[in-house]
Amino acid sequence: DRRVKIAPSILSADFADFGREIQAIEAQGADWVHVDVMDGHFVPNLTFGPPAVKAFRRHVKTVMDVHLMIAPVDPFIEAYADAGADILTAHLEAGPHSHRTLQAIRGAGMKAGIALNPGTPAQAVEPLLDLTDLICVMTVNPGFGGQKFLDMTAKIRALRSLIGDRPIHIEIDGGVDPTTAPLVVAAGADVLVAGSAVFRGGSVDDPAPYGQNIRAI
Ligand code: DX5
Ligand code: ZN
Repeated sequence: DRRVKIAPSILSADFADFGREIQAIEAQGADWVHVDVMDGHFVPNLTFGPPAVKAFRRHVKTVMDVHLMIAPVDPFIEAYADAGADILTAHLEAGPHSHRTLQAIRGAGMKAGIALNPGTPAQAVEPLLDLTDLICVMTVNPGFGGQKFLDMTAKIRALRSLIGDRPIHIEIDGGVDPTTAPLVVAAGADVLVAGSAVFRGGSVDDPAPYGQNIRAI
């Protein structure tokens, strides 16, 4: 379904060559570029912060979709606006004041996303819907690429019903591949993040497999 957007996660890219990796996945058909920021505190892994994300921006021609797996979020919102994030997603579980966080993200000129860990129910996001441009449904516990897909299709369907006719994306993140993608799209997802399933078999010097993998999702 080509109305569904594919957002490759550069968590599975070559960390010594992000600029060329971003150019390669865009040339191979990526709709958005998904950037996983981890702090070694909210999740048990550490990636990169605002200066690196600002450097990625120079290569992103599509949409830079920044997924913050950090706590706290609010002290860093301006830094990610300055880094050029188009969409900035914070976890509902990252702090007690999600309304303030989403308002601050929009106030800084970005689209505001809210991510839900697998253990968080759809209903938890209902009070935030009018402040939200994207809901990221995690289908793994965040922290690492290449984990096993957890079936969240009931949650996706519940979110579609709660959202009604609001213009809110439902993004799926974790374990998306050609087998699991049709399940989440049928349930109502319209943006698919994929790391290992996009980057496997290819490299910056041989990027054609990235395109084959994107089209297979
Ligand atoms: C998980 C990250 C994901 C991850 C997805 O913590 O938020 O974006 O990179 O990787 P795959 O597609 O390999 O599950
Ligand atoms: Zn992510």
